[in-house]
Amino acid sequence: MLKYTYYGHACFLLDDGTHKVLADPFLTGNPKAAIAPDQVQCDYILVSHAHGDHLGDAAAIAKRTGATIVAIPEVIGLCNEQAGTELKAHGMNLGGSVKLPFGKVRMTLALHSSGVAGGIACGFVVQMGGKNVYFAGDTALFHDMKLIGRKDSLDYALLPIGDNYTMGLEDAALAAQWLNAANVIPLHYDTWPVIEQDVKKYQELTEASTRAHVHIVSPGETLELK
Ligand code: NI
Ligand code: MN
Repeated sequence: MLKYTYYGHACFLLDDGTHKVLADPFLTGNPKAAIAPDQVQCDYILVSHAHGDHLGDAAAIAKRTGATIVAIPEVIGLCNEQAGTELKAHGMNLGGSVKLPFGKVRMTLALHSSGVAGGIACGFVVQMGGKNVYFAGDTALFHDMKLIGRKDSLDYALLPIGDNYTMGLEDAALAAQWLNAANVIPLHYDTWPVIEQDVKKYQELTEASTRAHVHIVSPGETLELK
């Protein structure tokens, strides 16, 4: 059974009972953080891009736990700089897949700035515990989302809905349709006033216009991904 635990903003943990995969661990300075950075346990850390609200505590958590960072090489370089040592890491780039002990990770396009010179923002399709989970990272709506949903049948899509920096409600509803996702979990909203959103409205809009069920998960809550 694959479990999703939301730690606030765009940070979450996937746990299949054996492996723990953390994503975008922005906890220090995150007003919605549901866990302290020195409490997180994980084996892998996916980092979508180097903006502070995604890279966050990745270097410190990797250093403490020995977890492997999965990111583009420029982000890994920044993490090593922050940690003052060479961290365990697996470098990838857009379009690439890799098999890891928990399953498989594919790095996907995201339409967003990178936060690090020479870098690029990305998303991930994580194959774990018998599920395909797409984490969009920060992104605008882009038409190639159709290709992401065509290549991998998506059980869950984790989509930013906050607007201003990423897709807002309407674009994120269209994203759910283009991805043909069975389930959607909204992220990246209500952390600050500038990205406050009516998440119930997002749920109504998306469920009325797609096949997806929208699961509203509050920081600190865990959802079994069925
Ligand atoms: Ni960003
Ligand atoms: Mn962001």
